[in-house]
Amino acid sequence: MNVKIFDLERDHGEIKEQLVETFKDLISAGEYVLGSKTEAFERDFASYLGVKYAIGVNSGTDALKIAGLSLGLKPGDKIITTPNTYISTVMSLSVHGIKPVFTDIELDTYNMDPAKLEETLSVEQGVKLCIPVHLYGHPCPMDEIIGICRRFGVKIMEDACQAHGAMYKDRKVGTFGDASAFSFYPTKNLGCYGDGGMVVTDSSEVAEHARMLRIYGQEGKHIHVIEGFNSRLDEMQAALLKVKLPFLDRWNKKRRHIAWLYTRELIDTPVVLPQEESWAYHVYHLYVIRTEKRDGLMEFLRKRGVTTLIHYPTPIHLQRVYDHLGYKRGAFPNAEKAAEEILSLPMYPSLTEDEVMYVASSIREFYGL
Ligand SMILES: Cc1ncc(COP(=O)(O)O)c(C=O)c1O
Repeated sequence: MNVKIFDLERDHGEIKEQLVETFKDLISAGEYVLGSKTEAFERDFASYLGVKYAIGVNSGTDALKIAGLSLGLKPGDKIITTPNTYISTVMSLSVHGIKPVFTDIELDTYNMDPAKLEETLSVEQGVKLCIPVHLYGHPCPMDEIIGICRRFGVKIMEDACQAHGAMYKDRKVGTFGDASAFSFYPTKNLGCYGDGGMVVTDSSEVAEHARMLRIYGQEGKHIHVIEGFNSRLDEMQAALLKVKLPFLDRWNKKRRHIAWLYTRELIDTPVVLPQEESWAYHVYHLYVIRTEKRDGLMEFLRKRGVTTLIHYPTPIHLQRVYDHLGYKRGAFPNAEKAAEEILSLPMYPSLTEDEVMYVASSIREFYGL
């Protein structure tokens, strides 16, 4: 049996007709950027989350950049985040002269450890923004993070790029920060057919700034009041995302069911399984296991036809591009241990029970169980 790591064509099977009809309409609609489809999807997404403003942009990376700059970050300011995230959490802003500072994770959920955050903020001066990343679809402990950031006068921008629909204590992630960023990269829990992203916020000033930044700093046609970018969610992506949004909760439930099956089948094996905190609604963008025999297991699964991936093999503080920050191996032991031991198993709504059983039994076979 071959089990892919993602299968978008199969995931979209049940809505293919709707997508094709939407696409056909678009071709004759005569709207291409920042038209009625983008506005409608922005409204739908804001109301799905329960925020006042949603601003469609070109990617999750641009959502982080535009949200961060809209929160007032300037070159030389510092941001704080965890080192075991996708590079763009950091690079989206460091490329604008903003300095990254890292703090370690806890190993149960691979998310920011509030105690470590407090320690780091106690010694680092000049941190303006904290970026908790709801990694793999598991929410960060927002009450603790918000409490600590308030005490240190640090704003919050959630990186919710992997966590559409995830909840912290019955409230959706993306609604806690001064602003938050989502990605609609195709493999995300809510993905489009190319690149796309969204800034969300309850602040009218931040929303206004983000709207200007995404279109050359323009306040009105040909009136440019700040320097900005060209970063807009296009009409095609917005229209297709609008079709998909009503299915998100059901697809997330399917992911949770697949996670439940994996956990049931692997609970007595030596691999460390993903945890869901009592206050969390995990949406399993990824189902990530951990083992010291990671490389061997990955190769064994590959030979059995099962594709797996590592999210992410090198913690950001050890990436060459950030040598100048001066971090050395050993600086963040949990993030470094995770990078050496984690493995993402196939996880998507259309994964079948037979496929999950095959992956799980292959892992059991690896351990001679
Ligand atoms: C945690 C995280 N942050 C940011 C991004 C960037 O999103 P995009 O690929 O849409 O630019 C991603 C997506 O890959 C991500 O997983």
